[in-house]
Order: sequence, then C-alpha cells, then structure tokens
Amino acid sequence: TDQIKEQLAGLIRDVPDFPAPGVLFKDITPLIASPGGLAKAVEAMVRLSPSEVDTVLGVEARGFVFASPVALSLGAGFVPARKPGKLPAEIIETEYELEYGTERLAIHADALKEGDRVLVVDDVLATGGTIGAAVDLVRKAGAELVGITVLVELDHLGGRKRLAHLGVADIAAVLNFPEA
Ligand code: PRP
Ligand code: MG
Repeated sequence: TDQIKEQLAGLIRDVPDFPAPGVLFKDITPLIASPGGLAKAVEAMVRLSPSEVDTVLGVEARGFVFASPVALSLGAGFVPARKPGKLPAEIIETEYELEYGTERLAIHADALKEGDRVLVVDDVLATGGTIGAAVDLVRKAGAELVGITVLVELDHLGGRKRLAHLGVADIAAVLNFPEA
C-alpha cells in the first residue's frame, strides 16, 4: 500500500502560483489520465470507506471523477452537489468560504432521503470549506453522514481541524501532504 501511495503521489503534479500567487496547486489530471492511476486511486478510496453506504455525495467538479466510481464499487447511488444555477428542480443550498473566494453548493431537495447513509467524496481536502458545505447539505436533508473520503489531504491548511468543530469524524484520506 505504501508503494501504491508513492505511485499515486508521483502522478500528482505540483503547479506553483495557480490559481493565485503563492498557492501550490495539486493537479490530479496526470493521475486520472493514467489508467492504472485512476483505478488504484478509486480502489484505495473504497478501501478506506465504510461499506454500508446508500448514497455517495460527490462535489462538482473534480469530486465527480472519484465519487461516481466509488459509488459503483460500494453498490451505492450517486448524488451530485453542484455549483449555482446547474440543478433544474427544487434545491437545498449552502454557502461556504473557499481558499480563494466564496462559493455556493446545492443538491436537489429530493436527492437524499431522511436516514440515508451518505458518504461524501471529493478529490482534495484543503481548508475544509467544500467538505463542510457538503456535510451541511447532508444534514439539511436529514440524511446520515457515515463518512468522508478524499484522495488528497493538505494537512497544513487545517481542514480536518476546522471540520472537527462541526462534529465531523471519520475523514479518510489516501494521501496526506504535510507542507506546500
Ligand atoms: C477544489 C477541490 C476541492 C476544494 C478543496 O475545488 O476540488 O473541492 O477545492 O478546497 P477546500 O477544502 O479549501 O474547500 P474547486 O472549488 O476549486 O473547484 P472544482 O472541483 O470545480 O475544480
Ligand atoms: Mg472541487
């Protein structure tokens, strides 16, 4: 597994000063462009996830790439959390702070049923704003959060700490990057 982690980490490209000066962007496109890389990333995410999941909630856009195959593998359904103006029917919505700016996220009001066991999946946990918003949507819908799984956690941005304040436990990350 350490070997797989090293392989996956090697497929992530560091891009300095994107999207703003001083930000080191973790670019997953080389990883998902690699057939073995994508499969191994999804397998590793599934291994860290709870097995009893009704619905995987994936966050637009990069989260979709991982959330859908994780859902398939767990035998769960997939629900998209989307940015403003994209969902056609009635929505539940929340606002959050991003590393760079403010953003809103929404799900269809009928997408999650009360008591559904929901796993939140995204590519990267940075400040925790996005995952926090996804968790908020799960709770607003009256569903049960059973886990959070990401491919990459950027430790120094303190997302895990911030989410702990929301009473969110069970955050699983395949790769942890300690410093930018
Ligand atoms: C990126 C990334 C995570 C989020 C992590 O998404 O894909 O969703 O930021 O940052 P946070 O923990 O500080 O919230 P972004 O909103 O840039 O857009 P994208 O997924 O649509 O590319
Ligand atoms: Mg994202």
